Amino acid sequence: MANSEYEYVKREFEFDRRLPPSNWIVVRIDGCHFHRFSKIHAFEKPNDENALRLMNACATAMLEKFPDIVFAYGVSDEYSFVFREETEFYHRRESKILSLCVSYFTSVYVMKWKDFFPNKELKEPPYFDARAVCYPNLKTIRDYLAWRQVDCHINNQYNTCFWMLVKSGKSEQAAQLALKGTFAKDKNELLAQQFQINYDDEPAMFRKGSSVYREKVETTVKIDDYGTPIKRPRLKVTVAHVDIIGPEFWENHQHILREGKFMHEFVKKFGIDRILPPCNWIVVRISGCQFDQFSIIHSLDKPNDETALRLMNASASLMMEQYPDIVFGYGFSNEYSFVFHEKTELYQRQESLILSSCSSYFTSCYVTKWKEFSPHKELMQTPRFEAVALCYPKLKIVCEYLSWRQAECHAGNQYNTCFWMLVKSGKSETEAHEILKGTLSKDKNELLFQQFQMNYNNEPAMFRKGSCIYRRKVEEFAEAEGGDNGTARERWDVKVDHVDLGPGFWRKHPWIMTNCN
Ligand code: GTP
Ligand code: MG
Repeated sequence: MANSEYEYVKREFEFDRRLPPSNWIVVRIDGCHFHRFSKIHAFEKPNDENALRLMNACATAMLEKFPDIVFAYGVSDEYSFVFREETEFYHRRESKILSLCVSYFTSVYVMKWKDFFPNKELKEPPYFDARAVCYPNLKTIRDYLAWRQVDCHINNQYNTCFWMLVKSGKSEQAAQLALKGTFAKDKNELLAQQFQINYDDEPAMFRKGSSVYREKVETTVKIDDYGTPIKRPRLKVTVAHVDIIGPEFWENHQHILREGKFMHEFVKKFGIDRILPPCNWIVVRISGCQFDQFSIIHSLDKPNDETALRLMNASASLMMEQYPDIVFGYGFSNEYSFVFHEKTELYQRQESLILSSCSSYFTSCYVTKWKEFSPHKELMQTPRFEAVALCYPKLKIVCEYLSWRQAECHAGNQYNTCFWMLVKSGKSETEAHEILKGTLSKDKNELLFQQFQMNYNNEPAMFRKGSCIYRRKVEEFAEAEGGDNGTARERWDVKVDHVDLGPGFWRKHPWIMTNCN
Protein backbone atom coordinates (compact mmCIF):
# COMPACT_ATOMS: atom_id res chain seq x y z
CA MET A 1 0.00 0.00 0.00
CA ALA A 2 1.19 3.53 -0.74
CA ASN A 3 3.36 5.21 1.87
CA SER A 4 1.29 8.03 3.24
CA GLU A 5 2.55 10.78 5.49
CA TYR A 6 1.03 8.84 8.37
CA GLU A 7 3.11 5.77 7.80
CA TYR A 8 5.68 6.80 10.44
CA VAL A 9 3.20 5.64 13.06
CA LYS A 10 3.98 2.12 11.98
CA ARG A 11 7.71 2.57 11.51
CA GLU A 12 8.30 4.29 14.82
CA PHE A 13 5.80 2.68 17.16
CA GLU A 14 5.30 -0.94 16.11
CA PHE A 15 7.85 -3.41 17.35
CA ASP A 16 7.34 -7.00 18.20
CA ARG A 17 8.84 -9.03 20.92
CA ARG A 18 10.45 -12.22 19.76
CA LEU A 19 10.63 -15.11 22.16
CA PRO A 20 14.22 -16.19 22.89
CA PRO A 21 15.61 -18.94 20.65
CA SER A 22 16.30 -22.51 21.74
CA ASN A 23 13.50 -22.56 24.31
CA TRP A 24 10.37 -24.64 24.44
CA ILE A 25 7.49 -22.19 24.12
CA VAL A 26 4.42 -22.89 26.20
CA VAL A 27 1.21 -21.07 25.35
CA ARG A 28 -1.21 -21.48 28.24
CA ILE A 29 -4.81 -20.65 27.47
CA ASP A 30 -7.29 -20.07 30.29
CA GLY A 31 -11.04 -19.50 30.04
CA CYS A 32 -12.08 -15.97 31.00
CA HIS A 33 -14.70 -15.93 33.74
CA PHE A 34 -15.38 -19.65 33.35
CA HIS A 35 -16.78 -19.75 36.82
CA ARG A 36 -19.69 -17.75 35.47
CA PHE A 37 -19.64 -19.44 32.06
CA SER A 38 -19.92 -22.92 33.58
CA LYS A 39 -22.71 -21.76 35.83
CA ILE A 40 -24.90 -20.27 33.12
CA HIS A 41 -24.39 -23.37 30.98
CA ALA A 42 -25.13 -25.65 33.94
CA PHE A 43 -21.91 -27.64 33.74
CA GLU A 44 -21.86 -30.63 36.01
CA LYS A 45 -19.89 -30.25 39.23
CA PRO A 46 -17.07 -30.66 39.84
CA ASN A 47 -16.33 -32.02 36.36
CA ASP A 48 -18.43 -31.80 33.26
CA GLU A 49 -17.38 -34.59 30.96
CA ASN A 50 -18.74 -32.96 27.81
CA ALA A 51 -17.10 -29.64 28.58
CA LEU A 52 -13.76 -31.39 29.08
CA ARG A 53 -14.20 -33.43 25.92
CA LEU A 54 -14.94 -30.21 24.00
CA MET A 55 -11.69 -28.70 25.34
CA ASN A 56 -9.87 -31.87 24.23
CA ALA A 57 -11.39 -31.65 20.75
CA CYS A 58 -10.14 -28.06 20.49
CA ALA A 59 -6.66 -29.15 21.57
CA THR A 60 -6.69 -31.97 19.03
CA ALA A 61 -7.65 -29.46 16.31
CA MET A 62 -4.73 -27.29 17.43
CA LEU A 63 -2.20 -30.11 17.00
CA GLU A 64 -3.69 -30.95 13.64
CA LYS A 65 -3.48 -27.32 12.53
CA PHE A 66 -0.08 -26.33 13.92
CA PRO A 67 2.59 -28.99 13.34
CA ASP A 68 5.07 -27.25 15.67
CA ILE A 69 2.91 -27.97 18.71
CA VAL A 70 4.34 -31.22 20.02
CA PHE A 71 2.33 -31.68 23.19
CA ALA A 72 -0.69 -30.23 24.97
CA TYR A 73 -1.95 -30.68 28.49
CA GLY A 74 -5.36 -29.58 29.68
CA VAL A 75 -7.41 -29.47 32.85
CA SER A 76 -10.57 -27.54 33.78
CA ASP A 77 -10.75 -24.37 31.63
CA GLU A 78 -7.04 -24.27 30.81
CA TYR A 79 -4.80 -25.82 28.18
CA SER A 80 -1.05 -25.62 27.74
CA PHE A 81 0.47 -25.99 24.29
CA VAL A 82 4.13 -26.84 23.95
CA PHE A 83 5.90 -25.70 20.77
CA ARG A 84 9.03 -27.59 19.83
CA GLU A 85 12.22 -26.07 21.11
CA GLU A 86 13.45 -24.76 17.79
CA THR A 87 10.15 -23.66 16.27
CA GLU A 88 10.30 -20.80 13.81
CA PHE A 89 6.53 -20.35 13.91
CA TYR A 90 5.94 -16.70 12.93
CA HIS A 91 9.62 -16.08 13.66
CA ARG A 92 8.75 -16.61 17.32
CA ARG A 93 6.83 -13.32 17.41
CA GLU A 94 4.95 -13.39 20.68
CA SER A 95 1.83 -11.46 19.73
CA LYS A 96 1.29 -13.48 16.55
CA ILE A 97 1.74 -16.81 18.34
CA LEU A 98 -0.47 -15.86 21.27
CA SER A 99 -3.29 -14.31 19.34
CA LEU A 100 -3.44 -16.98 16.64
CA CYS A 101 -3.44 -19.81 19.13
CA VAL A 102 -6.12 -18.38 21.37
CA SER A 103 -8.24 -17.19 18.48
CA TYR A 104 -8.13 -20.52 16.66
CA PHE A 105 -8.86 -22.40 19.87
CA THR A 106 -11.87 -20.16 20.58
CA SER A 107 -13.15 -20.47 17.06
CA VAL A 108 -13.07 -24.27 17.26
CA TYR A 109 -14.69 -24.14 20.73
CA VAL A 110 -17.66 -22.18 19.40
CA MET A 111 -17.93 -24.20 16.18
CA LYS A 112 -17.81 -27.57 17.96
CA TRP A 113 -20.05 -26.54 20.87
CA LYS A 114 -23.14 -28.17 19.48
CA ASP A 115 -21.33 -31.45 18.79
CA PHE A 116 -20.84 -31.81 22.54
CA PHE A 117 -23.92 -29.97 23.78
CA PRO A 118 -26.60 -30.72 21.16
CA ASN A 119 -29.34 -29.67 23.54
CA LYS A 120 -27.69 -26.65 25.10
CA GLU A 121 -27.63 -23.29 23.48
CA LEU A 122 -24.47 -21.24 23.74
CA LYS A 123 -25.68 -18.32 25.80
CA GLU A 124 -22.70 -16.02 25.57
CA PRO A 125 -19.46 -15.97 23.62
CA PRO A 126 -16.77 -17.92 25.48
CA TYR A 127 -13.33 -16.36 25.44
CA PHE A 128 -9.85 -17.13 26.69
CA ASP A 129 -6.70 -15.33 27.65
CA ALA A 130 -3.24 -16.65 26.94
CA ARG A 131 0.34 -16.18 28.00
CA ALA A 132 3.60 -17.44 26.56
CA VAL A 133 6.33 -18.80 28.77
CA CYS A 134 9.73 -20.06 27.63
CA TYR A 135 11.46 -23.08 29.12
CA PRO A 136 15.11 -23.46 28.24
CA ASN A 137 15.72 -27.17 28.81
CA LEU A 138 14.17 -30.56 29.11
CA LYS A 139 14.08 -30.51 32.91
CA THR A 140 12.18 -27.23 33.15
CA ILE A 141 9.62 -28.12 30.50
CA ARG A 142 9.00 -31.51 32.13
CA ASP A 143 8.72 -29.81 35.52
CA TYR A 144 6.27 -27.31 34.08
CA LEU A 145 3.99 -30.11 32.87
CA ALA A 146 4.37 -31.98 36.17
CA TRP A 147 3.38 -28.78 38.01
CA ARG A 148 0.16 -28.52 36.01
CA GLN A 149 -0.67 -32.20 36.65
CA VAL A 150 0.00 -31.92 40.39
CA ASP A 151 -2.29 -28.89 40.39
CA CYS A 152 -4.94 -30.92 38.58
CA HIS A 153 -4.66 -33.67 41.19
CA ILE A 154 -4.86 -31.34 44.20
CA ASN A 155 -7.79 -29.35 42.81
CA ASN A 156 -9.71 -32.37 41.63
CA GLN A 157 -9.35 -34.25 44.86
CA TYR A 158 -10.45 -31.20 46.82
CA ASN A 159 -13.37 -30.50 44.49
CA THR A 160 -14.52 -34.14 44.54
CA CYS A 161 -14.67 -34.08 48.35
CA PHE A 162 -16.20 -30.63 48.45
CA TRP A 163 -19.08 -31.45 46.11
CA MET A 164 -19.72 -34.85 47.71
CA LEU A 165 -20.10 -33.09 51.06
CA VAL A 166 -22.37 -30.44 49.56
CA LYS A 167 -24.47 -33.03 47.74
CA SER A 168 -24.82 -34.96 50.99
CA GLY A 169 -26.45 -31.95 52.62
CA LYS A 170 -23.63 -29.80 54.02
CA SER A 171 -23.59 -26.08 53.32
CA GLU A 172 -20.70 -24.84 51.14
CA GLN A 173 -19.21 -23.15 54.17
CA ALA A 174 -19.41 -26.29 56.29
CA ALA A 175 -17.83 -28.33 53.48
CA GLN A 176 -14.97 -25.85 53.25
CA LEU A 177 -14.43 -26.01 56.97
CA ALA A 178 -14.44 -29.80 56.98
CA LEU A 179 -11.64 -29.86 54.38
CA LYS A 180 -9.48 -27.13 55.85
CA GLY A 181 -5.94 -28.35 56.56
CA THR A 182 -6.58 -31.91 55.37
CA PHE A 183 -3.91 -33.88 53.51
CA ALA A 184 -4.39 -35.97 50.37
CA LYS A 185 -4.58 -39.13 52.48
CA ASP A 186 -7.27 -37.61 54.74
CA LYS A 187 -9.35 -36.72 51.72
CA ASN A 188 -9.06 -40.22 50.30
CA GLU A 189 -10.18 -41.61 53.66
CA LEU A 190 -13.08 -39.20 53.86
CA LEU A 191 -14.26 -40.30 50.41
CA ALA A 192 -13.87 -43.99 51.28
CA GLN A 193 -15.50 -43.83 54.69
CA GLN A 194 -18.30 -41.35 54.18
CA PHE A 195 -19.17 -42.08 50.58
CA GLN A 196 -17.66 -45.52 49.80
CA ILE A 197 -15.73 -43.94 46.95
CA ASN A 198 -12.27 -45.14 46.01
CA TYR A 199 -10.70 -41.97 44.62
CA ASP A 200 -8.49 -44.00 42.29
CA ASP A 201 -11.61 -45.38 40.60
CA GLU A 202 -12.75 -41.89 39.55
CA PRO A 203 -12.42 -41.33 35.77
CA ALA A 204 -8.79 -40.86 34.70
CA MET A 205 -9.71 -37.73 32.71
CA PHE A 206 -10.72 -36.02 35.96
CA ARG A 207 -7.76 -37.26 38.00
CA LYS A 208 -4.96 -36.96 35.45
CA GLY A 209 -6.16 -34.24 33.08
CA SER A 210 -5.72 -34.73 29.33
CA SER A 211 -2.52 -35.08 27.35
CA VAL A 212 -2.60 -34.61 23.61
CA TYR A 213 0.28 -35.70 21.37
CA ARG A 214 1.15 -37.54 18.19
CA GLU A 215 1.42 -41.28 18.49
CA LYS A 216 2.71 -43.75 15.94
CA VAL A 217 -0.14 -46.00 14.87
CA GLU A 218 -0.16 -48.74 12.27
CA THR A 219 -2.38 -47.40 9.52
CA THR A 220 -3.52 -49.16 6.37
CA VAL A 221 -2.10 -47.07 3.56
CA LYS A 222 -3.29 -49.22 0.66
CA ILE A 223 -4.44 -52.69 -0.28
CA ASP A 224 -2.07 -54.63 -2.52
CA ASP A 225 -3.04 -56.68 -5.58
CA TYR A 226 -3.69 -59.75 -3.44
CA GLY A 227 -6.09 -57.90 -1.15
CA THR A 228 -3.61 -57.70 1.71
CA PRO A 229 -3.66 -54.42 3.56
CA ILE A 230 -0.29 -52.65 3.57
CA LYS A 231 0.34 -51.00 6.91
CA ARG A 232 2.78 -48.25 7.77
CA PRO A 233 3.35 -46.42 11.04
CA ARG A 234 1.75 -42.98 10.82
CA LEU A 235 1.58 -40.22 13.40
CA LYS A 236 -1.92 -39.60 14.70
CA VAL A 237 -3.06 -37.05 17.26
CA THR A 238 -4.08 -38.91 20.41
CA VAL A 239 -5.72 -37.91 23.70
CA ALA A 240 -4.67 -39.83 26.82
CA HIS A 241 -5.26 -39.47 30.55
CA VAL A 242 -2.00 -40.72 31.97
CA ASP A 243 0.69 -39.87 34.46
CA ILE A 244 3.17 -37.38 33.01
CA ILE A 245 4.97 -36.64 36.28
CA GLY A 246 7.05 -39.82 36.44
CA PRO A 247 9.65 -40.84 33.84
CA GLU A 248 7.73 -43.73 32.30
CA PHE A 249 5.53 -41.84 29.86
CA TRP A 250 8.47 -39.79 28.61
CA GLU A 251 10.72 -42.82 28.26
CA ASN A 252 8.10 -44.45 26.07
CA HIS A 253 7.52 -41.32 24.02
CA GLN A 254 10.97 -39.92 23.43
CA HIS A 255 9.98 -38.36 20.10
CA ILE A 256 7.74 -35.77 21.77
CA LEU A 257 10.17 -33.54 23.65
CA ARG A 258 13.28 -34.06 21.54
CA GLU A 259 16.01 -31.61 22.33
CA GLY A 260 17.53 -29.52 19.57
CA LYS A 261 21.14 -29.92 18.63
CA PHE A 262 22.35 -26.90 20.53
CA MET A 263 21.75 -25.78 24.06
CA HIS A 264 22.28 -22.11 24.62
CA GLU A 265 23.27 -20.94 28.04
CA PHE A 266 22.21 -17.39 27.50
CA VAL A 267 18.54 -18.04 28.01
CA LYS A 268 17.80 -17.58 31.67
CA LYS A 269 14.57 -15.77 32.22
CA PHE A 270 11.20 -17.48 32.36
CA GLY A 271 7.81 -15.96 31.71
CA ILE A 272 8.51 -12.28 31.50
CA ASP A 273 5.22 -10.61 30.71
CA ARG A 274 5.60 -7.25 29.02
CA ILE A 275 3.77 -4.51 30.86
CA LEU A 276 2.63 -1.79 28.51
CA PRO A 277 4.06 1.55 29.62
CA PRO A 278 1.77 3.63 31.81
CA CYS A 279 0.00 6.81 30.67
CA ASN A 280 0.07 5.59 27.10
CA TRP A 281 -2.96 5.06 24.96
CA ILE A 282 -3.20 1.41 24.02
CA VAL A 283 -4.40 0.43 20.58
CA VAL A 284 -5.24 -3.20 19.95
CA ARG A 285 -5.44 -3.89 16.24
CA ILE A 286 -7.13 -7.09 15.20
CA SER A 287 -6.88 -8.37 11.65
CA GLY A 288 -8.20 -11.42 9.86
CA CYS A 289 -5.67 -14.10 8.87
CA GLN A 290 -5.81 -15.59 5.40
CA PHE A 291 -9.02 -13.71 4.70
CA ASP A 292 -8.35 -13.92 0.96
CA GLN A 293 -9.07 -17.59 1.19
CA PHE A 294 -11.85 -17.05 3.72
CA SER A 295 -13.64 -14.60 1.43
CA ILE A 296 -13.38 -16.92 -1.57
CA ILE A 297 -14.72 -19.91 0.37
CA HIS A 298 -17.67 -17.85 1.61
CA SER A 299 -18.14 -16.04 -1.73
CA LEU A 300 -17.92 -12.57 -0.23
CA ASP A 301 -18.69 -9.73 -2.66
CA LYS A 302 -15.78 -7.92 -4.25
CA PRO A 303 -14.37 -5.41 -3.55
CA ASN A 304 -16.64 -4.91 -0.52
CA ASP A 305 -19.06 -7.28 1.12
CA GLU A 306 -21.56 -5.23 3.04
CA THR A 307 -22.76 -8.11 5.21
CA ALA A 308 -19.22 -9.07 6.20
CA LEU A 309 -18.45 -5.45 7.11
CA ARG A 310 -21.61 -5.19 9.16
CA LEU A 311 -20.64 -8.38 11.00
CA MET A 312 -17.26 -6.81 11.79
CA ASN A 313 -19.09 -3.72 13.11
CA ALA A 314 -21.45 -5.84 15.21
CA SER A 315 -18.49 -7.69 16.73
CA ALA A 316 -16.85 -4.33 17.44
CA SER A 317 -20.04 -3.15 19.16
CA LEU A 318 -19.93 -6.18 21.46
CA MET A 319 -16.28 -5.40 22.18
CA MET A 320 -17.29 -1.90 23.36
CA GLU A 321 -19.79 -3.49 25.72
CA GLN A 322 -17.39 -6.09 27.03
CA TYR A 323 -14.47 -3.72 27.54
CA PRO A 324 -15.65 -0.43 29.04
CA ASP A 325 -12.12 0.98 28.73
CA ILE A 326 -12.31 0.98 24.95
CA VAL A 327 -13.22 4.54 23.97
CA PHE A 328 -13.08 4.28 20.20
CA GLY A 329 -12.87 1.73 17.42
CA TYR A 330 -12.04 2.06 13.74
CA GLY A 331 -12.34 -0.69 11.17
CA PHE A 332 -12.31 -1.46 7.48
CA SER A 333 -11.92 -4.60 5.40
CA ASN A 334 -10.91 -7.37 7.83
CA GLU A 335 -9.26 -5.23 10.48
CA TYR A 336 -10.39 -3.29 13.53
CA SER A 337 -8.40 -1.03 15.84
CA PHE A 338 -9.58 -0.48 19.40
CA VAL A 339 -8.37 2.46 21.44
CA PHE A 340 -8.14 1.93 25.21
CA HIS A 341 -7.96 5.13 27.22
CA GLU A 342 -4.55 6.01 28.60
CA LYS A 343 -5.39 5.15 32.19
CA THR A 344 -6.77 1.68 31.57
CA GLU A 345 -5.68 -0.90 34.13
CA LEU A 346 -7.10 -3.85 32.20
CA TYR A 347 -5.04 -6.93 33.20
CA GLN A 348 -2.62 -4.54 34.93
CA ARG A 349 -1.60 -3.58 31.38
CA GLN A 350 -0.05 -7.00 30.67
CA GLU A 351 0.35 -7.06 26.93
CA SER A 352 -0.27 -10.73 26.28
CA LEU A 353 -3.46 -10.88 28.32
CA ILE A 354 -4.88 -7.73 26.75
CA LEU A 355 -4.23 -8.70 23.17
CA SER A 356 -5.15 -12.35 23.53
CA SER A 357 -8.45 -11.79 25.30
CA CYS A 358 -9.37 -9.08 22.75
CA SER A 359 -8.61 -11.25 19.74
CA SER A 360 -10.38 -14.17 21.33
CA TYR A 361 -13.51 -12.24 22.30
CA PHE A 362 -13.69 -10.59 18.89
CA THR A 363 -13.35 -13.96 17.16
CA SER A 364 -15.97 -15.48 19.41
CA CYS A 365 -18.45 -12.68 18.62
CA TYR A 366 -17.69 -13.01 14.92
CA VAL A 367 -18.37 -16.75 14.88
CA THR A 368 -21.40 -16.46 17.17
CA LYS A 369 -23.01 -13.69 15.13
CA TRP A 370 -22.20 -15.18 11.73
CA LYS A 371 -25.59 -16.93 11.39
CA GLU A 372 -27.49 -13.78 12.22
CA PHE A 373 -25.81 -11.90 9.39
CA SER A 374 -25.57 -14.73 6.86
CA PRO A 375 -28.48 -17.03 7.70
CA HIS A 376 -28.13 -18.89 4.41
CA LYS A 377 -24.37 -19.22 4.38
CA GLU A 378 -22.78 -21.81 6.54
CA LEU A 379 -19.48 -20.97 8.17
CA MET A 380 -17.20 -23.38 6.32
CA GLN A 381 -13.83 -22.39 7.69
CA THR A 382 -12.79 -21.29 11.16
CA PRO A 383 -12.03 -17.59 10.93
CA ARG A 384 -9.09 -16.39 12.97
CA PHE A 385 -7.73 -13.01 13.87
CA GLU A 386 -4.31 -11.90 14.95
CA ALA A 387 -3.80 -8.94 17.23
CA VAL A 388 -1.06 -6.48 18.08
CA ALA A 389 -0.95 -4.01 20.94
CA LEU A 390 0.51 -0.58 20.21
CA CYS A 391 1.28 2.19 22.67
CA TYR A 392 0.96 5.87 21.94
CA PRO A 393 2.02 8.38 24.57
CA LYS A 394 -0.06 11.27 23.21
CA LEU A 395 -3.62 11.60 22.10
CA LYS A 396 -2.51 13.53 19.02
CA ILE A 397 -0.56 10.48 17.84
CA VAL A 398 -3.54 8.20 18.41
CA CYS A 399 -5.52 10.50 16.10
CA GLU A 400 -2.72 10.38 13.52
CA TYR A 401 -2.70 6.58 13.81
CA LEU A 402 -6.43 6.54 13.08
CA SER A 403 -5.95 8.91 10.14
CA TRP A 404 -3.26 6.58 8.83
CA ARG A 405 -5.60 3.61 8.96
CA GLN A 406 -8.28 5.70 7.22
CA ALA A 407 -5.79 6.75 4.54
CA GLU A 408 -5.05 3.03 4.01
CA CYS A 409 -8.77 2.33 3.79
CA HIS A 410 -9.18 5.06 1.19
CA ALA A 411 -6.19 4.04 -0.92
CA GLY A 412 -7.10 0.36 -0.75
CA ASN A 413 -10.73 0.87 -1.53
CA GLN A 414 -10.16 3.23 -4.42
CA TYR A 415 -7.66 0.82 -5.94
CA ASN A 416 -9.91 -2.19 -5.45
CA THR A 417 -12.96 -0.40 -6.84
CA CYS A 418 -11.06 0.42 -10.05
CA PHE A 419 -9.46 -3.02 -10.18
CA TRP A 420 -12.75 -4.94 -9.95
CA MET A 421 -14.56 -2.58 -12.35
CA LEU A 422 -11.81 -3.26 -14.90
CA VAL A 423 -11.96 -7.00 -14.29
CA LYS A 424 -15.76 -7.07 -14.49
CA SER A 425 -15.55 -5.13 -17.78
CA GLY A 426 -13.48 -7.96 -19.30
CA LYS A 427 -9.85 -7.15 -18.48
CA SER A 428 -7.63 -9.86 -17.02
CA GLU A 429 -6.36 -9.34 -13.48
CA THR A 430 -2.82 -8.78 -14.77
CA GLU A 431 -4.05 -6.17 -17.26
CA ALA A 432 -6.03 -4.40 -14.54
CA HIS A 433 -2.95 -4.24 -12.27
CA GLU A 434 -0.88 -2.95 -15.18
CA ILE A 435 -3.40 -0.19 -15.97
CA LEU A 436 -3.47 0.98 -12.35
CA LYS A 437 0.28 0.85 -11.78
CA GLY A 438 1.63 4.26 -10.79
CA THR A 439 -1.72 6.04 -11.00
CA LEU A 440 -2.56 8.76 -8.49
CA SER A 441 -5.81 9.08 -6.62
CA LYS A 442 -7.09 11.69 -9.07
CA ASP A 443 -6.29 9.44 -12.05
CA LYS A 444 -8.33 6.64 -10.51
CA ASN A 445 -11.29 8.92 -9.97
CA GLU A 446 -11.08 9.99 -13.59
CA LEU A 447 -10.81 6.42 -14.82
CA LEU A 448 -13.96 5.47 -12.89
CA PHE A 449 -15.80 8.50 -14.18
CA GLN A 450 -14.77 8.26 -17.82
CA GLN A 451 -14.83 4.50 -18.34
CA PHE A 452 -17.68 3.58 -16.04
CA GLN A 453 -19.62 6.81 -15.44
CA MET A 454 -19.01 6.32 -11.74
CA ASN A 455 -18.53 9.14 -9.29
CA TYR A 456 -16.26 7.61 -6.63
CA ASN A 457 -17.62 10.00 -4.03
CA ASN A 458 -21.08 8.52 -4.45
CA GLU A 459 -19.88 5.06 -3.40
CA PRO A 460 -21.23 4.01 0.03
CA ALA A 461 -19.50 5.88 2.86
CA MET A 462 -18.88 2.61 4.73
CA PHE A 463 -16.64 1.44 1.86
CA ARG A 464 -14.84 4.76 1.37
CA LYS A 465 -14.39 5.90 4.97
CA GLY A 466 -14.46 2.66 6.94
CA SER A 467 -16.43 2.45 10.18
CA CYS A 468 -15.81 4.18 13.45
CA ILE A 469 -17.51 3.25 16.66
CA TYR A 470 -17.89 5.23 19.86
CA ARG A 471 -20.23 5.95 22.76
CA ARG A 472 -22.51 8.94 22.88
CA LYS A 473 -24.99 10.23 25.35
CA VAL A 474 -28.63 9.99 24.39
CA GLU A 475 -31.56 11.39 26.26
CA GLU A 476 -34.39 9.10 27.14
CA PHE A 477 -37.74 10.43 28.21
CA ALA A 478 -39.42 8.45 30.93
CA GLU A 479 -43.08 9.06 31.63
CA ALA A 480 -43.51 10.30 35.16
CA GLU A 481 -46.13 8.64 37.29
CA GLY A 482 -49.46 10.40 37.58
CA GLY A 483 -49.22 11.98 34.11
CA ASP A 484 -46.91 14.82 35.19
CA ASN A 485 -44.09 16.05 33.02
CA GLY A 486 -41.78 13.26 32.00
CA THR A 487 -38.19 13.22 33.17
CA ALA A 488 -35.19 13.11 30.89
CA ARG A 489 -32.66 10.44 31.68
CA GLU A 490 -29.24 10.17 30.15
CA ARG A 491 -27.89 6.95 28.79
CA TRP A 492 -24.82 6.00 26.76
CA ASP A 493 -25.20 4.07 23.59
CA VAL A 494 -22.79 2.82 20.96
CA LYS A 495 -22.84 4.48 17.55
CA VAL A 496 -21.33 3.35 14.26
CA ASP A 497 -20.42 6.10 11.80
CA HIS A 498 -18.69 6.39 8.42
CA VAL A 499 -17.05 9.80 8.39
CA ASP A 500 -13.72 11.61 8.04
CA LEU A 501 -11.55 11.26 11.13
CA GLY A 502 -9.97 14.71 10.73
CA PRO A 503 -9.69 17.49 13.34
CA GLY A 504 -13.30 18.47 12.56
CA PHE A 505 -14.53 15.10 13.82
CA TRP A 506 -12.63 15.36 17.10
CA ARG A 507 -13.84 18.96 17.64
CA LYS A 508 -17.39 17.80 17.14
CA HIS A 509 -17.04 14.82 19.49
CA PRO A 510 -14.80 16.16 22.28
CA TRP A 511 -16.04 13.66 24.87
CA ILE A 512 -14.93 10.51 23.10
CA MET A 513 -11.28 10.53 24.07
CA THR A 514 -11.60 12.54 27.28
CA ASN A 515 -14.50 10.83 28.94
CA CYS A 516 -12.65 8.11 30.79
CA ASN A 517 -14.92 7.13 33.58
P1 GTP B 1 -10.49 -16.09 35.15
O1 GTP B 1 -9.74 -17.24 34.55
O2 GTP B 1 -9.65 -15.28 36.08
O3 GTP B 1 -11.20 -15.25 34.15
O4 GTP B 1 -11.65 -16.72 36.11
P2 GTP B 1 -12.41 -18.11 36.02
O5 GTP B 1 -13.79 -17.86 36.51
O6 GTP B 1 -12.27 -18.71 34.66
O7 GTP B 1 -11.65 -18.99 37.11
P3 GTP B 1 -10.40 -20.01 37.00
O8 GTP B 1 -9.80 -20.03 35.64
O9 GTP B 1 -9.49 -19.73 38.16
O10 GTP B 1 -11.08 -21.40 37.31
C1 GTP B 1 -11.87 -22.10 36.38
C2 GTP B 1 -13.30 -22.17 36.83
O11 GTP B 1 -14.08 -22.72 35.78
C3 GTP B 1 -13.53 -23.10 38.02
O12 GTP B 1 -13.41 -22.43 39.22
C4 GTP B 1 -14.95 -23.58 37.79
O13 GTP B 1 -15.85 -22.66 38.38
C5 GTP B 1 -15.13 -23.50 36.29
N1 GTP B 1 -15.08 -24.83 35.67
C6 GTP B 1 -14.09 -25.33 34.89
N2 GTP B 1 -14.39 -26.60 34.50
C7 GTP B 1 -15.59 -26.89 35.04
C8 GTP B 1 -16.44 -28.07 35.00
O14 GTP B 1 -16.13 -29.08 34.39
N3 GTP B 1 -17.61 -27.99 35.69
C9 GTP B 1 -17.97 -26.88 36.38
N4 GTP B 1 -19.13 -26.87 37.03
N5 GTP B 1 -17.21 -25.79 36.43
C10 GTP B 1 -16.03 -25.79 35.79
MG1 MG C 1 -10.42 -19.25 33.86
